[in-house]
Amino acid sequence: MTSELPASQLSSSIVDEIEQLKGTFPGYRRAHARGVCYDATFVPSGVAADLTTAAHLGNEPVAATVRFSHTDTDPHLPDADRAVRGFATKFHLPGGGTTDLVTINLDRFIASTPEDFLHLLEAAEPDPATGAPDLAKVQAHVAAHPSAGPALAAAAKLPTPRSYGTTTYWAVHAFLWRGADGVARPVRYRWEPVAGEAVLGEGEGADWSATQLTEELAQRLGEGPVEFTLKVQLGEPGDPTHDSTLVWPAERTEVTAGRLSITAEVADQEHWAAQVFDPTQLTPGIELSDDPVLAARSAIYAVSYDRRSHGR
Ligand code: HEM
Repeated sequence: MTSELPASQLSSSIVDEIEQLKGTFPGYRRAHARGVCYDATFVPSGVAADLTTAAHLGNEPVAATVRFSHTDTDPHLPDADRAVRGFATKFHLPGGGTTDLVTINLDRFIASTPEDFLHLLEAAEPDPATGAPDLAKVQAHVAAHPSAGPALAAAAKLPTPRSYGTTTYWAVHAFLWRGADGVARPVRYRWEPVAGEAVLGEGEGADWSATQLTEELAQRLGEGPVEFTLKVQLGEPGDPTHDSTLVWPAERTEVTAGRLSITAEVADQEHWAAQVFDPTQLTPGIELSDDPVLAARSAIYAVSYDRRSHGR
């Protein structure tokens, strides 16, 4: 097992370990490799304007670009797979600039720290004797890091959505909103599908094409926008902000910050696929929490970006 690494080495060690475990697919993201980008408009409800000064959460609609993705490093895995899905949004701010909100269809993460994530990947390495992961090693990791258990269990039985537009997505980490009053408030985001939840039943999906979810979305968009509401849980004193394996009580006060309407595939897919959606790309009025996984992601994504943008 890797001993603790300096932050500068940790990001490349994690990406190296992902490549070792899942293979290298030149030119693709090291996670969420296959995805498609879409044009969207975000209409804020105005409710958040009292709680944060963030420009896109005020009163005026903003344009956005979103990317739906399959979580794997292998861009060729079929859409019927039981796999986590990603939904990344880049809001185009009034007056220029962008801010990102990156979400998955799980409400919590599988590691409390980037080091724990690396150790989990190491525990999942195939046993040279059998070519398969040694389950005992993964179980030992979970026994030593019990808060990883719920997300790992949820991921293992996560049903495949019928559509990218029929599942809920969470940002997983806590963030801080800062209002004009100077007060910082912990928040957790999720996108709720206006179309409601719809997932594949057991045994369904055998007739799906490998890119069914993209084709389905094209068809759905032909009938009108695909919409999500941005729900925001407001944390209370004592709610954990430092650990994305932990969630907050469901009865926390929530606000509906706005509605996103996805309208069409972007015209320049290549341009948008090349971008990074970085959860630490914030804007005044939104700040990072004390979650070390959140803090680490920007450098990890930069390593992936550097490799893929050089055709590696
Ligand atoms: C230590 C933890 C993590 C590692 C090592 C990791 C790794 C990566 C990498 C290498 C990429 C590709 C970046 C690029 O080339 O642009 C990526 C993308 C992504 N990650 Fe993570 N990630 C972590 C945590 C998370 C968490 C907690 C979430 C939950 C929201 C998440 C959601 C996503 C999504 C949705 C994408 C695709 C973004 C896009 O469409 O461009 N990741 N991740």
